[in-house]
Amino acid sequence: MTQFDLLKRPRRNRKSPAIRSLVRESFLRPSDFVVPFFLIPGENRREPIAALPGIDRVTIDLFIREAELLHSQGIPAVAPFPVIDPSLKDLEGSEAWNEEGLLQEAIRRIKAELPSLCVIADVALDPFTTHSHDGWVNAEGYVENDLTLSALCKVGLSLTRAGCDILAPSDMMDGRIKALRDSLDAEGFTEASLLSYAVKYASSFYGPFRSAVQTKLAFGDKRGYQMDPANSREAIREVLLDEEEGADMVMVKPALPYLDVLTKVREATTLPVGAYHVGGEYAMIMAAAEKGWLNGKEALYESLTGIKRAGADFIFSYATAQISEFL
Ligand code: PBG
Repeated sequence: MTQFDLLKRPRRNRKSPAIRSLVRESFLRPSDFVVPFFLIPGENRREPIAALPGIDRVTIDLFIREAELLHSQGIPAVAPFPVIDPSLKDLEGSEAWNEEGLLQEAIRRIKAELPSLCVIADVALDPFTTHSHDGWVNAEGYVENDLTLSALCKVGLSLTRAGCDILAPSDMMDGRIKALRDSLDAEGFTEASLLSYAVKYASSFYGPFRSAVQTKLAFGDKRGYQMDPANSREAIREVLLDEEEGADMVMVKPALPYLDVLTKVREATTLPVGAYHVGGEYAMIMAAAEKGWLNGKEALYESLTGIKRAGADFIFSYATAQISEFL
């Protein structure tokens, strides 16, 4: 007997690694992850990305080689993002639906070599427009919703013809899921999947990604189409609309500042729910680790576990190489 008459001692369930593993509620597995890649033209070339330590821009041949290794370790999917030469950008973003474009070529080549690897391609115009907005901009600098939809449909068709498994519209235009679904079905692509970035916030955590793809907003910001970080009811509205419009999966992005939203979305839909642990979320941990202020691998693993626990079925993450020893 001690002087403390404690009937309940939760620590008993933590007293050994064996017991902790018996009672563990959430797990990270290689099959939870989608790994983003940044693509550049040419062969056998890589460029480090200062704002994303450990991540390089790579040519298609290196992309395929690295994706093959990840796939052999159980990673089911990759998300290639093209870095577009400024000479190919225009006001409309027309390079986005060039059948011979960098992304289209990458998809054709990787699906030919690794047919069982799932390729998820972003549908948005920002890497391709001179102003780096996600859509068509009018004389007042406003991103035009419905004109943008017709462009997105051309992009979606061209990526699907290249062999893309899942289209992931990230532009936040209204009605894009229905527009894409209709245009895919009209061409007979009834098997093409749509993963909607349904809940995408206007976030400062996209900074490292924008330096990776070398885009820079010529004016304004994305608050007229991406969501206000202060809102969560609106997130459910976006998800339910995309579900009605025919989305196969939905995503919340960024992840850590929005775990409450992720949990609500998980409860509001029966669709699979993804989360994007974005560049800024990865970069701030890597930066603190470089300074010796925290253990980067452990902090990344803890962050990703939290995202899983909050309700994510899968996670887009730059951190799989960093946490591979834990998986
Ligand atoms: C493009 C797009 C962005 C990201 C994914 N697709 C940036 C943006 O909307 O400005 C961000 C990914 C990341 O930050 O890691 N629409």
